Amino acid sequence: MKKSYLLLLGVFLALMIFSEDMEVYAITPGAPCISCHDTITPGIVKQWENSKHSEVGVKCYVCHEAKEDDPSGYDHNGYFITAIPSPKYCEGCHTKQTKEFWKSKHAWAAFMGPLKPYYIKAKKEGLDPLSQETAKKFNPVEIAKRTLSPLYPDSGALKNAGLLDNPEYDHNNIVLGCIQCHGSFVIAGEEGELEGWPNVGIGRVNPDGSLGSCTSCHTRHEFSIAQARKPYTCGQCHMGPDHPQIEIYEESKHGNIYESSGDNWNWNVPPGQWGPEDIIAPTCATCHMSGFGGAVESTHDVGERLYWELQPKISVPQWKGPDEVDLVLERIPDPEKAEQGRAKMKKICKECHSKQWTDKYFIEFDRVVNDYNKVFFYVDDLLQEAYQEGLISADNPIDEIPEVMHYYIWHHDGRRWRMGASMMGPDWTHWNGAVDALLDKLNIMQDWLTQARKIKELEKESISKSALILVGLVAITALAVAGYTATKKR
Ligand code: HEC
Ligand code: HEC
Ligand code: HEC
Ligand code: HEC
Ligand code: HEC
Ligand code: HEC
Ligand code: HEC
Ligand code: HEC
Repeated sequence: MKKSYLLLLGVFLALMIFSEDMEVYAITPGAPCISCHDTITPGIVKQWENSKHSEVGVKCYVCHEAKEDDPSGYDHNGYFITAIPSPKYCEGCHTKQTKEFWKSKHAWAAFMGPLKPYYIKAKKEGLDPLSQETAKKFNPVEIAKRTLSPLYPDSGALKNAGLLDNPEYDHNNIVLGCIQCHGSFVIAGEEGELEGWPNVGIGRVNPDGSLGSCTSCHTRHEFSIAQARKPYTCGQCHMGPDHPQIEIYEESKHGNIYESSGDNWNWNVPPGQWGPEDIIAPTCATCHMSGFGGAVESTHDVGERLYWELQPKISVPQWKGPDEVDLVLERIPDPEKAEQGRAKMKKICKECHSKQWTDKYFIEFDRVVNDYNKVFFYVDDLLQEAYQEGLISADNPIDEIPEVMHYYIWHHDGRRWRMGASMMGPDWTHWNGAVDALLDKLNIMQDWLTQARKIKELEKESISKSALILVGLVAITALAVAGYTATKKR
């Protein structure tokens, strides 16, 4: 009697636990993931537990359940998952941010950068550069390695070393260099296998045909806005000799203040409510993205508040965006958009500064950009003359001294010169910018050309001298022969 009572109770309890679990599993399919993953990938689970998403019940399977048409989807312990939830997986809940991001150059960074040669090839053949089939056919990374390496870093050096076309030399700096920042092309194989991954470059091409990676700035699985607002999130890519934005920021008064008191600022205030009462000085995000002090709306299009394109050879007003043109192939300045961008940026400054302070700063900045442009036109003329005079050849565009100097002047020093001026970094404007461009590179270029012209002159002179000697010799020989035959005849 007692035994069967206990058995009944046991069955009842087991059923209760089972059905309760069933219910939990059915409604919130985060639980079965976590039950394994809290031992398999405990870091991920912990980070997710600290996130806003866990607070509001956005669990693992909400993001990781693969969409039916996503080639990266596969069966994983009875669940159809993807390891690479693209921006499309966030779009449904964060429509505004995703749409803005797709309008930005960030989303296009792979195709505008290292994967551009692949993109052009695909377009030429009338194929969709975003499709998995096209990528499988052409192998974007291979194209990047073959076309980029001869230019940078090699510029003839690898060729001279016999390594450029050596099949054992892989050019893999392209994969762990360019593509880490700009983004890879991820190709999905069987059973969740991914080629071109791990990678969270900002313009990554995802297996589902979408562009970009939100985790470039909101690292998983906290997806924190506080982190995204801090300068080193951007500085991971915006650094180094050709776009030293983080170094410029560190040098600026703004960066200085951030360094000394940033730890105590309010980083978690919801977007739109964030303002000068929470932070004393701006970070990258404040000026380029945040809704700040109610001045302008927050944006995920980092081009929205800019006037200039400071990265190309010649600075022009912001180009039309990918919603209007094929940004990879067409670069059309849009002065109207640029003016609007400038106005928005100024509104941010004026949350903390006066109108005069703000306006005058931009007048000085624009003057620097104009000076740089004038220098570039001169430098470019020098190069074209050198081609015309046959002092250098155009076959590899970056392998002779004038070409290398021309490249450094716009791509490194000239960018530093302009970018330093845009963000209050005087050392980058002057010593690392104008001085490096002019005192160093332009002088070397001019000097090289002067020498080359002299050598050419000397060669010409010595050719005409040797021609004279030759004519002389021929004449003497002719005379001698004539004389000899004359004596013989006699
Ligand atoms: C029965 C245990 C178990 C369950 C349940 C489980 N996983 Fe996993 N998961 C694993 C193991 C084991 C790995 C492999 C770990 C490794 O590669 O180091 C893994 C790997 C993964 C990966 C990485 C795949 C890759 O290619 O790198 C993702 C993403 C993932 N799981 C998500 C989920 C999600 C989402 C759920 C819930 C729908 C889930 N898992 C449920 C055990 C489980
Ligand atoms: C808000 C959406 C979201 C939620 C919720 C989420 N993930 Fe992820 N997860 C992502 C994104 C985005 C990536 C990055 C993939 C990429 O872009 O390369 C990722 C990557 C992963 C990876 C593979 C990468 C790595 O670092 O090993 C694993 C494993 C994973 N998630 C497990 C989980 C588990 C377990 C949970 C629940 C505790 C979870 N995820 C919840 C969005 C999410
Ligand atoms: C099912 C809906 C849903 C999905 C899918 C989703 N999120 Fe969220 N997310 C939310 C909600 C709800 C919040 C909380 C909003 C709030 O607090 O105002 C949030 C908050 C955030 C925040 C702000 C966190 C903070 O610190 O305030 C970020 C960043 C974020 N999500 C990024 C992502 C990314 C990236 C993805 C895709 C990988 C994603 N989310 C997928 C619903 C979702
Ligand atoms: C450390 C990260 C990083 C690496 C590595 C990197 N880039 Fe970039 N690249 C950037 C950033 C950041 C910009 C944006 C500069 C700006 O607008 O101020 C950029 C800009 C560019 C542009 C200009 C795009 C435009 O809109 O005009 C091209 C082209 C480019 N990179 C190609 C490459 C190639 C090719 C490589 C490798 C040989 C490479 N990058 C390596 C971060 C990187
Ligand atoms: C005080 C505000 C402010 C801060 C802080 C700031 N920027 Fe800027 N940034 C600007 C302004 C102003 C411009 C020039 C806008 C224009 O073209 O009119 C600019 C230009 C840029 C550009 C465009 C360069 C180009 O190629 O056209 C990039 C990229 C950039 N900033 C990134 C950053 C990063 C990364 C940080 C942080 C490390 C940062 N900015 C911090 C105001 C700021
Ligand atoms: C370049 C870095 C960067 C990338 C990439 C990025 N974010 Fe953000 N995100 C931010 C910053 C900075 C904020 C805080 C904005 C503010 O202060 O107003 C933010 C805020 C958010 C928020 C909070 C609400 C809001 O509008 O501010 C959500 C949600 C969000 N991001 C989702 C996404 C999604 C989804 C993606 C990918 C499509 C994405 N983010 C890509 C930097 C980024
Ligand atoms: C993972 C690398 C990466 C991160 C992180 C990143 N960026 Fe960028 N950013 C790039 C690259 C690459 C480009 C160049 C895109 C192009 O021109 O093709 C770029 C371009 C830009 C531009 C120029 C846009 C234009 O329209 O000319 C601005 C401004 C910018 N980023 C600001 C930021 C800010 C602010 C953050 C941090 C909140 C940030 N970025 C984080 C890689 C990154
Ligand atoms: C969140 C507030 C805030 C915003 C937004 C802001 N600044 Fe500042 N800025 C400061 C503070 C604080 C100082 C330091 C003032 C001092 O020296 O006492 C400063 C200093 C400066 C300086 C002086 C640099 C030096 O070396 O002394 C310039 C120039 C400047 N800001 C320009 C700008 C411009 C232009 C913008 C907009 C693109 C801007 N600021 C946006 C707070 C801000």
